[in-house]
Amino acid sequence: MRNEPEGRGFLDLLPAQAAEGVIRLPGSKSISNRVMLLAALAEGRTVLHNVLSADDTMRMREALSVLGIEVQRVAEGVWTVTGCGGRVPVREGELFLGNAGTAFRPLTAVLALAEGNYRLRGVPRMHERPIGDLVEALRQWGAQITYLEQEGYPPLAIAPAERPLGEELQTRVRGSVSSQFVSALLIAAPLTGRRVVVEVEGALISQPYVAMTVALMEHFGVNVTVEEEGRRFVIPEGSRYRSPEVWYVEGDASAASYFWAMGAVGGGPVRVEGVGRASIQGDVAFAELLAAMGAAVEWEPQAVEVRALPAVEKAIREGKWPDGPRLHGLDCDATTIPDAAMTLAVLALFADRPMRLSGVGSWRVKETDRIAAMTQELSRVGAEVESGEDWLVVHPPRRWRPAVVRTYDDHRVAMAMALAAFGGVALRLLDPGCVAKTFPTYWEWWERLVRPMPVVTVDGLSASGKGTVAKEVAASLGWHYLDSGALYRAVAWQALARGIPLDDARALSTLAESLTVEFVDGRVHINGTEAEQAIRADAVGEAASQIAQWPEVRAALLWQQRAMARSPGLVADGRDMGSVVFPEACAKLFLTASVEVRARRRYKQLIENGMHANIAELQQTLTARDLRDQRRATAPLQPAADAKVLDTSDWTVEETVQQALDWVRDRCTGRARSNQKPNRV
Ligand code: DC
Repeated sequence: MRNEPEGRGFLDLLPAQAAEGVIRLPGSKSISNRVMLLAALAEGRTVLHNVLSADDTMRMREALSVLGIEVQRVAEGVWTVTGCGGRVPVREGELFLGNAGTAFRPLTAVLALAEGNYRLRGVPRMHERPIGDLVEALRQWGAQITYLEQEGYPPLAIAPAERPLGEELQTRVRGSVSSQFVSALLIAAPLTGRRVVVEVEGALISQPYVAMTVALMEHFGVNVTVEEEGRRFVIPEGSRYRSPEVWYVEGDASAASYFWAMGAVGGGPVRVEGVGRASIQGDVAFAELLAAMGAAVEWEPQAVEVRALPAVEKAIREGKWPDGPRLHGLDCDATTIPDAAMTLAVLALFADRPMRLSGVGSWRVKETDRIAAMTQELSRVGAEVESGEDWLVVHPPRRWRPAVVRTYDDHRVAMAMALAAFGGVALRLLDPGCVAKTFPTYWEWWERLVRPMPVVTVDGLSASGKGTVAKEVAASLGWHYLDSGALYRAVAWQALARGIPLDDARALSTLAESLTVEFVDGRVHINGTEAEQAIRADAVGEAASQIAQWPEVRAALLWQQRAMARSPGLVADGRDMGSVVFPEACAKLFLTASVEVRARRRYKQLIENGMHANIAELQQTLTARDLRDQRRATAPLQPAADAKVLDTSDWTVEETVQQALDWVRDRCTGRARSNQKPNRV
């Protein structure tokens, strides 16, 4: 389908007005995969609690099962792992590890010492992520590893190691590409039975992840001596992993960063439970950065609560859209927090000065080239972004733009970029399901915590007065107004002008996608030229009703309509505003009136505009058009289940507007607003 450019669907988000609530985090990915492997290598059984359920952790669990390790699910997030005491039971096997670096790297090291023959593969992107430094280091221990495709990259074949001589094993590894190489060597070291010394060459990025590995190994009975400021690690001879029996995985601090950020730009308070002051994850440092940027951050041992700068919080609490920047900008060397730095790059959109992020060279070899991805996607919403080999500078948008955002099969691009919705523009995120890599329930939490901008929909029969009422409601609330019929009329008018047959759905949808329709002082401009008078002709209305039957045309216009949603609010009039285009609208109206009344209203309107009209003919065309709009297969004209139906036959415009405003004020103000599911395909 045309509307799914990457073939994997999209998620439409309204501009986000506020964020508030409590979230209990899923377990940390990094800790889940480490402790599953440590428990597998240990003597004894371990019960693991709050293990993350996501693609990356599933890859690790599957791999352990293939290797003959008993891994059993006890309850949601609770698993028992029966350790093998350092001897991997299955000596031949093929592992598929998806795009999970936290599985691929340590399993490579462990299996290199397992005295068996194994093949390790992943998705195509995994085969583009370097592993040569780790393989080189393992070869110093006698490992027999061959590259099955490209030198230096997965997939790999592993054969039993040739044991090198000597009492002690030394290895040197570069730390500048991925800290997981160091972690992998440390985790595998006890399997040698000897004293092992691991030395880091050059810079070590993501140092907190190595500290996490060391801390977890200690809980599993292996003491690592850390020397030379974390550049030299010594594991004593005869070290063996022993089960701690029970282990509770703390919440994921990288995942927490999105919700802390929500609190910082969406008012808050957002309370994030599962990780806090006592965390062993480096990404908790992101909450400190937020405080430095002006957000109010409260720390507890196992939770952090974030709210916005006082002025921003106050504005949002009063239901206003905060003007100007929401955070103080800063420059940041993100070497130690590469994952949370993705969130920081998006928060830079809200800063009071350009922000420079350095030390993010590792982004180039993550799930996608994240420097290229963020440069591209941040600029779509209006930022100016400069970038180099290992840095980027984000200049906040002078004018925010609604945007279709690509996600590159990268969970963090998707989760972080969604925060741009707080800039007051609509977003369409392609392939939103990619968040399943580490956070399958992310969008559900988004819906729970984020209050979208208010949208009021006014649908109804032709000439029921919806246009007049919608305009008046918009004016009295100071919100934007969308006349969706004008978009259908614009396409129809252009189709007539270009001789495109009204039943050629493909050509019509291509036309619909190519047109730029803008409303300037309430008048329609098509591709930059005013066309208000032209599209209002009755023949154009008739043609619009005909082309509106085609699902392709409706799909092509869906995003154009969604993109009109801008802070502080929108009133949209049409036929399917409440049922299809803005299902999450806070108030939905559906106007009807008898056909006689509607024909008289339309007659008056046409005569006033100096056009010819006949009441009997108008009754006929209105009846025919209603029938066509009601009977079409796609988005037929009918009230949404939660719409308020108003019969305006006996009311003046003022009376109808008053009724409408009462309903809107009742439904769209205050924080207890209902907020329904956004568009998702
Ligand atoms: O509201 P209007 O008369 O300007 O609309 C012209 C035609 O466009 C109408 O007959 C049906 C179609 N339309 C639609 O199908 N869905 C909308 N949201 C708006 C208009």
